Amino acid sequence: MAQNVPLNLFTVKSPLAAEVIENKRLTALSRGPKNDVRHLTLRYKEKYAYLPGQSAGILPPATDPVTGKPHKLRLYSVASESAGDAGDGQTVSLCVVRHFWDNSVTGEKNIPGVCSNYLCDVKVGDSVSMTGPSGRHFIIPEDFKHRDFIFVATGTGIAPYRGMLKELFDRGYEGNAALYFGVQYGDVILYDDEFEAYRKHKNFSYFKAISREQANPFPGEVPTRNNKMYVQAKMYVSREALAESLKKPDSMMYLCGLKGMEEGIFPVLEKIGQSLGTQDSFVAKLKAEQRLKVEVY
Ligand code: FAD
Ligand code: A2P
Repeated sequence: MAQNVPLNLFTVKSPLAAEVIENKRLTALSRGPKNDVRHLTLRYKEKYAYLPGQSAGILPPATDPVTGKPHKLRLYSVASESAGDAGDGQTVSLCVVRHFWDNSVTGEKNIPGVCSNYLCDVKVGDSVSMTGPSGRHFIIPEDFKHRDFIFVATGTGIAPYRGMLKELFDRGYEGNAALYFGVQYGDVILYDDEFEAYRKHKNFSYFKAISREQANPFPGEVPTRNNKMYVQAKMYVSREALAESLKKPDSMMYLCGLKGMEEGIFPVLEKIGQSLGTQDSFVAKLKAEQRLKVEVY
């Protein structure tokens, strides 16, 4: 929401030391480690200016046993508004899921990802080394007030929207904002209470696609894996409202989360484009008009 976008204030050679002041689990304790998602808040003395939609770099301690060099930085979307959760401009929050992977060469399974597990295990009082902020393509435009926004997230892809929605509603937003959020279970919906509370704004709508508890009502029109309820199926259900927003020439759509999610969403956008009489690719049109922003990882 500002023209001057802060970029790379801190680097690998000159990182920022931040203190962990909060490490809170966001998901039900009864779920396993792969559903362990943390809200981390880091406090610093120097100025780390950022905007929702940007990412912070985290430098995990220790060396990479493969290269013998310090671990490379990993990016995490900022999950707080630019003033930070404490409102004093001296904190940033992140939303981190424990990552595990399988090594197809050695056959080893469930190998803990280096940085996500480091972050999920940090304790209050620990020091974390940060770079950034980085990225400018995913921020909200300065002339946000009357635009319609469609925010689509899977998993930790919700992070940027937490700060964005807070800033929109704190600053007298008058457009229509819709949030589509895909998660596995009803007890792992990140920041659900905060988003539920925004329903008091008549111009906010919130749709949850709970893949392992709900079925896709339109498997023929919008195929999903095992007919699960994915965000694209929820979007198809409310395609008329989406079309109303997307026909406005200044409306914008943001997609954030799992790499590959866009492949299931773009066909729904094409169907909406056809309903609006668009002859060529609606996705290409939205991209060309800088109205479709994608951040997947
Ligand atoms: P790593 O140890 O880096 O492993 C990651 C992958 O690397 C593995 O799955 C595997 O495929 C491969 N790999 C690792 N070691 C080996 C090896 N020895 N041999 C072969 N393959 C290997 N994550 C969040 O939780 N929240 C966010 O808000 C978030 N935002 C992001 C924003 C951006 C712009 C980007 C690019 C990424 C974001 N991520 C986010 C993802 C994050 O940056 C990390 O990729 C993620 O946490 C995994 O890092 P890790 O160190 O835990 O795993
Ligand atoms: P599922 O894992 O049941 O297939 P994650 O928890 O791994 O971050 O995923 C967040 C949500 O996104 C889950 O509900 C997951 O469903 C869903 N998902 C997985 N793949 C896709 C996809 N290609 N498009 C949309 N949603 C997806």
